[in-house]
Amino acid sequence: MNEYRHNSSEAIQRTQPGWFHPRRYYLNMLRKLIEYAIEKHIPNKNGILVDYGCGSMPYKTLFETKINSYLGADLSDNPAIDIKLDAQGKLNYADSAADILLSTQVLEHVDDPELYLQESHRILKNDGLLLLTTHGYWMFHPDPNDFWRWTSSGLKKVVERNGFEVVDFRGIIGRPAMGLQLFQDGLMFNLPSPIKQIFIFIMQIFIHLFDKVTKQETKNTDACTFLVVARAKK
Ligand SMILES: C[S@@+](CC[C@H](N)C(=O)[O-])C[C@H]1O[C@@H](n2cnc3c(N)ncnc32)[C@H](O)[C@@H]1O
Repeated sequence: MNEYRHNSSEAIQRTQPGWFHPRRYYLNMLRKLIEYAIEKHIPNKNGILVDYGCGSMPYKTLFETKINSYLGADLSDNPAIDIKLDAQGKLNYADSAADILLSTQVLEHVDDPELYLQESHRILKNDGLLLLTTHGYWMFHPDPNDFWRWTSSGLKKVVERNGFEVVDFRGIIGRPAMGLQLFQDGLMFNLPSPIKQIFIFIMQIFIHLFDKVTKQETKNTDACTFLVVARAKK
């Protein structure tokens, strides 16, 4: 088991990254994107949420006042899970039983994205809510695999093709800032420790500043990470 990706300090790093964290800006923007989705699309307390590919469940506390039950589902090497996946990645969970399906940064890692979306659709009630984030541009990062990257059009198409109606779509981190993030990631692994930390600190400030030049509507078509909010239609 990979301890790092499933422990609670990893969860804190994801929601409150430190000043020298190489993904500081991205992780802050991703947390805000999920907060935006909760605020806009979950007005009332709303039953059962299944976090499919939950890892350390870093966003669990954000949902505290919005749901009655939070169930984590992941591969069998994750000790924190409530629902174990079978060998194909299917959920051991009833049809049409969940109100919300949360999927944060999982779709690029699954062997078969269509099967993953069909499973998400199967366990959601009619009109149940899918909140899914995944990468547009990003470096290779296996967990335990890394198979896919999405364009905005391709992501909408694959979600709709599997029984969902897309009701909101939003991107974070546009091309100029993302170019800098990839530049940082291309160099940082070769730098000695103190220089690396200073380099990351400066790069993260520039990434933040450069992201301000890109309009939100441009990010919605071309970005580091996309949020899809969709309703299961049955
Ligand atoms: C980058 S981590 C994201 C974890 C968590 N959702 C988060 O936002 O921190 C990717 C997760 O996808 C899980 N995963 C990989 N293949 C999967 C599959 N076929 N079905 C469901 N989850 C999978 C991994 O075990 C891992 O927990």
